[in-house]
Formats: sequence, structure tokens, C-alpha cells
Amino acid sequence: MVTKIQMLLSMLAGGDAFDFVGGIAQGADVRHILSLHGRGEGLLEGSGNRRFEAALARYHQAQAVTFGAGRMALYAILKAMDFPAGGEVILPGYTCVVAPAAILRAGLRPVYVDVRIEDFNIDPELAEKAITARTVAILAQHTFGIPCRMDELTDIGRRHGVAVIEDGAHAIGARLDGQVLGRWTEAAFFSTQATKMFSTERGGYVTTPDAALAKRLREIQQQSADETPRIAGLSLLRWLYRAGLVCRPGANRKTKLAELVIRRFRLPLLKAVLDYEAEEYAQSLQGRCSEAFPTKLPNLMAHAGRLQLARLEENLAHRRRLAAFLEESLPSLGARLGQYDHARAQPSWVRFPFLVEDRSAWIRNMSRHGLGPGYWLEDPVHPRGSNRQAVGYATGSCPNAEWLCQHILNLPLHPELRVSRINLWLSSCRKEIGRQKPINS
Ligand SMILES: Cc1ncc(COP(=O)(O)O)c(C=O)c1O
Repeated sequence: MVTKIQMLLSMLAGGDAFDFVGGIAQGADVRHILSLHGRGEGLLEGSGNRRFEAALARYHQAQAVTFGAGRMALYAILKAMDFPAGGEVILPGYTCVVAPAAILRAGLRPVYVDVRIEDFNIDPELAEKAITARTVAILAQHTFGIPCRMDELTDIGRRHGVAVIEDGAHAIGARLDGQVLGRWTEAAFFSTQATKMFSTERGGYVTTPDAALAKRLREIQQQSADETPRIAGLSLLRWLYRAGLVCRPGANRKTKLAELVIRRFRLPLLKAVLDYEAEEYAQSLQGRCSEAFPTKLPNLMAHAGRLQLARLEENLAHRRRLAAFLEESLPSLGARLGQYDHARAQPSWVRFPFLVEDRSAWIRNMSRHGLGPGYWLEDPVHPRGSNRQAVGYATGSCPNAEWLCQHILNLPLHPELRVSRINLWLSSCRKEIGRQKPINS
């Protein structure tokens, strides 16, 4: 009881924290989705996927096929490419556990290679060295939305006759040479899960410039199961909850308060909305995919994606303004930033990553100033606690990635977060952080 009272007091006393933020859903989207439902669009079926895919195709200048998650989109690509069983897929040893799980589910073997400290992305030289007669594909993951070294990777793919597949889970809207990622290689996949560039709560899609591949992907999509009404319904409610509460100023206070009430009064439906993914999440840490895999993206969630896609460029411009400000200010506090060719690449900044020597000091400091730190990629097969062995990652095999895990933090960027707010944090913590020694690798 005492701890609950303490929690409540600290929550009410604390500033608006921007810790969990993803998606760019707004109240207007919520009203739009509810009115579509009122006009006969079903939870699972209707015009949503067709219209979302058409909008994605225009945006990426490629064909687009939606699925129930990014990991499912990756699986669908691997199946559509019809690789022989046991084929090896090279991927960065700095990824999310669900990516190798999808590779295993497709009957293939994940082979990890180390990343470059500079941009957190796969090292093309090491990727080339890892190619064997069994290699079928290289996964080019644009970590945090910083584009990979695509010239080198596509060249390697061409010379060795292996496919290059882009993992754009973090990178919707990132550009290279002015072109939105998604048609650099034969296939790319993206995630629209709740913490990504925009949110369909769960979801993902493939883009490809190849008409024959798109046809096979569409067949896989058509043969896929619908999400169960229970999961689709809970996921819609969770999206409404996040859109209404989480993506707002004061979000952290309001959501924590709401969650406290839901749990305290054991409100079963609302508790199910908060926890419906818990079992699946626990399975994913063990490298297992859900039973129905892949599934279709539920109709109303596809509509939700389309509405947010229309605002994406505006959101990207905001993220890039914040990122430019952070790029200017963070190095003077001893932090190190991701390096990329500013003349060619425009990251999407799903979150803004930076490296620090003393991670715990920064975490304390950021939390005190209401800028909840993000912890993404603090394990070679993120998150911490995932079963490395189950997805074939050998500890020690990717030393750069393992070093990054000890030093990386990120600042979630969001429409409600302003430069003035970051500036306030920077000036108020300059004294504490400024005294730390700069990071060394
Ligand atoms: C690098 C990376 N790849 C793939 C995925 C899979 O996306 P989804 O959660 O939509 O299945 C994620 C998810 O977080 C990711 O971080």
C-alpha cells in the first residue's frame, strides 16, 4: 500500500515524461476509425488493406503488401523467395529477437555478423566474409532509421548472387539519395507496431519493386489467417487507449494513473487491453513465433495506418529538427552520436540514439528531468533476457554490438516534444553530465 501511495505521489509530482512514445495517432484518427466502423467497415474485413497498400505503394514508389507484424512480413519475404531449407541468412548481431525467430520459422538459419560502432548497422566487409555456399540472403537493418551502407551491400549481393533484404522496422520514411527506403533492393519490410514511426498497434508490410515477387507475397497474404476477433478487438482498444492517452502532453502521468486504477480495481476488460500480448511476448523472448503466423492486418488497423501515413512527412520533419538540435548539443556533454553521410542519408529517427560512458548516471539524470530514457538494443538479440541460444547467437561473437549494448541510450522523439523542452533539460543537467568523462571505445 505504502509503495502504491508513493508511486501515486511521485507520479503526480513529476513532470510530463516522454518515455514510452510511439505512433502519431491523434484524436481525429480515433473519431475517423469509429465513424468508418459505424459506416460498415468491419474490424477484420473491409477496404482498409487495399487502401493502405495503395497509399504505401505511392509513398515508397514500390508495391506494398501488409501483414499482421513486421516479423511476419520478413517471414513472408523469405517464403516468397523460396529459399532451400537450411539456407543461411546473414543479419546484424544487433537486432530484435523476433527477426531471427522469423528466419528460423521460415526453415532458415540466422548467421550473425558484427555491426559498425559508427552507425549501429551491419558491417558490409564482415557480411561478405560470412558468405558461404549456403548463404541465401543478407538482412540490411537500418538501425534507428539510419540507412545502411547500401551501395556496398547491394554490390556484395550482386557479386555473390545472394538476396539483400532491407529490415526497415525502424526506418519508415528514411531516405537515401533523396529516395524513401523501400525500393533499393528486391524486398524490404517495415513495422507499424506501436513503438515505431506510426502505429497500427501491431502490423507490418513488405515493399518490393518486383511485380512477380509482389504477386507471390499477395498469395501468401491471402492464404494467411485473419487475426482472431479477440486479439484484433483488444489490439484496436489498445490503439484507441494509446492514441487517446499516451500520445498527449502529460502522457506518462495519465497513463500510469489509468493503469494503476485498472489494476487496483481489477477491471478485467481493461486489464486484458493492457496485457493481451504478455504471453506472446514471453514466447518471443524464447525465439518462438505465435501459432498463427503470418496473419493479415485487421481492416480497421489498416485504416489507422493510412490516416497516419498521410501525416508522416510532417512528423519526420519534426523528428529531424529535434535530431539536428541534439546532434549539435549532445557531443558537448561527452555523448557520442551515430555517424552517417549527411549529404546522402536522412534517417527517420524512430528514436535518437547516443552513446555514453556512464549509462546509469544518464538514466538517472534523464528520468529526473522527465525525459524517460529509451533502452533499445541493449542486447545483441534485444531485449535483455531473450534466449540467445534459442536464436543461435553465440555470446562474444559480435564484440562491437556487445560494447554498444553497454553504452547506448535513446531519446524517444515525438510530435509533442519540442526543442525548447530538450533545451531546458540540456541546460539544467549540463552541470552534472558535463563533468563526466567523454566516451571511449
Ligand atoms: C530491428 C527490428 N526488426 C524487426 C522487428 C519486427 O517488427 P514487429 O514487431 O512489427 O514484428 C523489430 C521490432 O521491434 C525490430 O526492432
